[in-house]
Amino acid sequence: MPSPFFQTTAPVLANYALAHHTYLIRLEAAAIARAIRPGQFVMLRLPHTSDPLLGRPFALYDTALDDSGNPMGLDIVYLVVGKVTTLMTHLRPGRSVDVWGPLGNGFPEPAGDRQVALIAGGIGQTPFLAHVRELLGTRGYGGQAARRRAERVSLYYGVRSANLAAGVDDFRHAGAVVHLASNDGSLGFHGYVTDLFDRQPDADHVFGCGPEPMLQALASLAGRRRLPCHLSLETPMACGVGICFSCATPVKTPGGWDYRRACVDGPVFDAASLVWHDRQP
Ligand SMILES: Cc1cc2nc3c(=O)[nH]c(=O)nc-3n(C[C@H](O)[C@H](O)[C@H](O)COP(=O)(O)OP(=O)(O)OC[C@H]3O[C@@H](n4cnc5c(N)ncnc54)[C@H](O)[C@@H]3O)c2cc1C
Ligand code: FES
Repeated sequence: MPSPFFQTTAPVLANYALAHHTYLIRLEAAAIARAIRPGQFVMLRLPHTSDPLLGRPFALYDTALDDSGNPMGLDIVYLVVGKVTTLMTHLRPGRSVDVWGPLGNGFPEPAGDRQVALIAGGIGQTPFLAHVRELLGTRGYGGQAARRRAERVSLYYGVRSANLAAGVDDFRHAGAVVHLASNDGSLGFHGYVTDLFDRQPDADHVFGCGPEPMLQALASLAGRRRLPCHLSLETPMACGVGICFSCATPVKTPGGWDYRRACVDGPVFDAASLVWHDRQP
């Protein structure tokens, strides 16, 4: 049974660059901020226009707190790739956007309580900041009290080039042990973030988010090392609430495979349940 979500016109409180083509926007949306959990997402739509008509999905980066420590806003970190994300860069305090959420299933409890590894590729780091805080028990989300779920949380974060690394200090301040990689060698390990993680000692549970080839490599690595692994998919979505089926994702079933809607059955899936060959363009 999907949990209720809220729709609101949310005032923009801040909107600034974090890295090359990467911004953080803070929205005032207390009801969603109180209810949302790490791994869930919101749909964001520009108001008073039919172009673009559809909203776009964005992961929770973190909730913003008021002076009393109560959730009052949403922080979203976005990479500029197209129409909506370009228009979002022009939003200043005083403007507002339509937002609905929380949507999707969120991250499950980790297996074991010692080492959790978060593997992020590109803009795929965004669902993990709140996740770090939830795992280390420094914040409660969705109305739950803070509770420590992991002894140590390591973030493996890979980018194409150093200028695209966004929010690294946020993760360090939140208590994650941060390992960096870049495709061109300009930051940290020279190579893919999955290869960097493959050189490390075992974790009790792995979570991943990023481009599909990276997630496929991570699923195969986790399978080889018999690590529980959950992946947050960035499947394009039109409605975000289970109506349009634009986010159909093939998953294994007892009889073979079938489609699931990433917006309501995901976006977080057990890596072992995903079917990869049908996912390629
Ligand atoms: C659950 C979920 C959470 C997400 N969280 C974030 C986030 O925190 N930060 C963030 O920057 N992005 C996130 N995304 C991706 C984000 O939704 C897209 O980047 C956004 O919809 C692009 O909108 P646009 O209008 O700027 O681009 P469009 O004009 O719609 O598209 C521009 C180009 O990007 C391609 N494209 C659009 N969406 C995707 C996609 N999801 N995967 C691959 N290619 C795509 C299009 O095919 C096109 O070529 C998330 C996606 C999902 C499903
Ligand atoms: S986005 Fe419409 S059903 Fe998933």
